[in-house]
Amino acid sequence: MTNKMYFIANWKMFGDLRSLNSLDKVIKFSKSKEINKGRLIYCPPYTLISSFLKKFNNCQIDIGAQNCHESQNYGPYTGHVNSHMLKNIGANYVIIGHSENREKGENDQLINLKIRNALKAKLKVIFCVGETLVDKRKKKTNLILAKQIKFGLDKIKDKKNIFIAYEPVWSIGTGIVPKSKNLFETIEFIKSKFKGKSPKVLYGGSVNPNNIKNLKEINNIDGFLIGGASQNSNKFIDIVKKTYS
Ligand code: 13P
Repeated sequence: MTNKMYFIANWKMFGDLRSLNSLDKVIKFSKSKEINKGRLIYCPPYTLISSFLKKFNNCQIDIGAQNCHESQNYGPYTGHVNSHMLKNIGANYVIIGHSENREKGENDQLINLKIRNALKAKLKVIFCVGETLVDKRKKKTNLILAKQIKFGLDKIKDKKNIFIAYEPVWSIGTGIVPKSKNLFETIEFIKSKFKGKSPKVLYGGSVNPNNIKNLKEINNIDGFLIGGASQNSNKFIDIVKKTYS
C-alpha cells in the first residue's frame, strides 16, 4: 500500500438533496486524525455538485464529476456539460471512460478528446480502463488495457493530472474482486506502460469494508474508486479506516 491513498466515491445516478445529511459523518471523519494520509473525493451526479461543494466548504474533501462533454466550448449540445463548466463551478476532478459509458458507445477516440479538454480546463482526470468478462476469459486483459491506455492517452505528454482507475467490468457491482496476485500483476502491467513516472493507479469494482483488508495488502495500488459502498457514509469511512489499520 502506498501511503497517500485516494478514496474516490462514484455515486453514479444516485442521491438527492436528502442525501446531503449523510455526509456530516464523513466531514467529521475528514477532520479527524483517523483519516491519516487518505484523500477523499466525491463524484456526485451533476445535480448535486454545487450542494456538495457548499457542504464541503470547510473541509478537505474534493469534488469531481462523473463525465463531461468532449467540446471545450459552449455549444448546442442538449443535456451535456463540458469540463470548463465543471471547473467553473468548483469541481477539480472528472471521471472519464467509465465502462458504463463505454457500453453506451464512448470509444477510445472520444475518451481521448474528453481527457485532453478536461486537462486543458485544469481538471484532474480519473481515466477508467478495464476488460469485460469475455475479454478476461479469452486472456485478453493486457491487450485491452494496453489499447485503452494507448488510444485514451494519445497525444497527452504531461500525465501528472491523470489517475488511472482499473475497473474490470466483471467486478463492478458484482461483489467479485480479482485475485490479489492477478490484481497486483495487472496494476504492474498498467504502470509498465509508462516510460517515465506512471500516473497513480486506483482499483475499482465491488470495494467494500469486507474485502478492503485484502485489497490494501496489494502494495502497488494508489487508491480506490468506490461505487455502491460509497453511498453509505459508514461503509465509506470504514473502508478508509481499515485501509490504514
Ligand atoms: P461498485 O463499487 O458498485 O462495484 O462500482 C465500482 C465503480 O464502477 C466505480 O466507478
